[in-house]
Amino acid sequence: MDWAVVSVGLILLYAAICIWLHFRYPEPHWDWENIDLDDLAFPPGFLWGSATAAHQVEGGNHNNWSRWETQVDEDGVPRVPDGVPSGRAVEHWERYPEDIALMRDVLHLTSYRFSVEWSRIEPSPGKFDDAAIAHYRDVIVRLLDAGITPMVTLHHFTNPLWFEDMGGFEKAENIEYFVRFARRVFEEFGAKVPRWCTFNESAPYSVMGYGLGVFPPGVKNFQRMAHVLHHMMQAHVRVYDTIKAMPGGEDVEVGLVKNVFQFDPYRRWSLVDWVMVRVMESAYNESILGFLRDGYFRLVIPTKARLVARHPEAVGKTDFIGLNYYANLVVSPFMRTKPPFDVHLRKGQILTDMPYAIYAEGFYRALKQVSTLGKPIIVTENGIADDRDDRRAIWIRRYLYALSQAMKDGCDVRGYHYWSLLDNFEWAEGYKMRFGLVRVDYDTQERHVWGGTKAYVDIIDRFRSDG
Ligand code: BGC
Repeated sequence: MDWAVVSVGLILLYAAICIWLHFRYPEPHWDWENIDLDDLAFPPGFLWGSATAAHQVEGGNHNNWSRWETQVDEDGVPRVPDGVPSGRAVEHWERYPEDIALMRDVLHLTSYRFSVEWSRIEPSPGKFDDAAIAHYRDVIVRLLDAGITPMVTLHHFTNPLWFEDMGGFEKAENIEYFVRFARRVFEEFGAKVPRWCTFNESAPYSVMGYGLGVFPPGVKNFQRMAHVLHHMMQAHVRVYDTIKAMPGGEDVEVGLVKNVFQFDPYRRWSLVDWVMVRVMESAYNESILGFLRDGYFRLVIPTKARLVARHPEAVGKTDFIGLNYYANLVVSPFMRTKPPFDVHLRKGQILTDMPYAIYAEGFYRALKQVSTLGKPIIVTENGIADDRDDRRAIWIRRYLYALSQAMKDGCDVRGYHYWSLLDNFEWAEGYKMRFGLVRVDYDTQERHVWGGTKAYVDIIDRFRSDG
């Protein structure tokens, strides 16, 4: 055998595969200097919103994720930065009337996505708290009175401790408890809330909690992670079917909120990087999209996890797909597996505090990707952590431009919710990340609209059809 010929052959094959991957999975970068960011188009009735999650803003939660905030990891390091718990958060539990007034009078929003805290509504198994239910009813009524459409998320990362202690979503038999909670909430508020999100971001929930161990319960086992994700997807279908079968269920939209990170190779000529990209893309995004599109759950991470199952009953079981988009992840085999994740900035890119690159081209790609479900899209989260307020306006203008372009190119998008309404408690990052449209002084709880937010309000004013 002529080893020289074999070697040349192998090199050519390697190059051919990389070239094919390069063109098959491009990582576009637009020429922002020469783009007219005012070239926007949004239809009448488009939802202009912002989003929050109960635990991140309410304050006073003590029967859920709060326990994790008092713990340390195996090295004695507090689970949240400096051991500072969510505590009073931004007192949205008490201050919601003031916050709704801000949404209406200053921000001119038409939609508000928020979550109902399971541990408040059902503090112990099967015992529902009337005062908590009355609270959320009042939030909904006040929103409607302010001309803002409520969008409710049933599960945004937090579980009541009783549910967590019985194994949470790791146990298939526990799905029933979540369905019972959803049924009760829909019974209470169903008719008033036109859009419902079952789960917020089941991929990050399972990856962070069961794969990387940086969210509760701190497990580091990818096979267990796969089971959790699989059960959450089944729970989504169960809740979807349950709501649809209830009075008023056919009049509302029920959807899943999917966070999309694209994975791009750090070195486009490295097959190792490409293999990582394809494995992560399939496990993180396609496991969920494929479940809803084709009724096929497939999560395979070589040597770490394998779960493949048919679910014909899941096909199309989402009236809209909620898209949360923050960034692409540029991956290499040497990347950190704990937040903050490594960030590989491409030439000319701007870094956010989280830290992510500002990469609105990725938002366009994500919109195209979730369009493959053939369902309307609602952007349920998108926003920047920017303590200096010197990048917020750039983010808003670029991402809304990318959104408008995607819609021009055929994506059926019905609304956009900026993350977040207020600065808030950012899970594994604590209070360091300021994602709000509204800045909160954590000592006095005073609210001040960030300067960069004007970019969003200007666009809303330009396109809100009711003036
Ligand atoms: C979550 C939010 C979080 C945001 C910013 C999303 O993954 O749904 O709860 O605050 O990202 O990191």
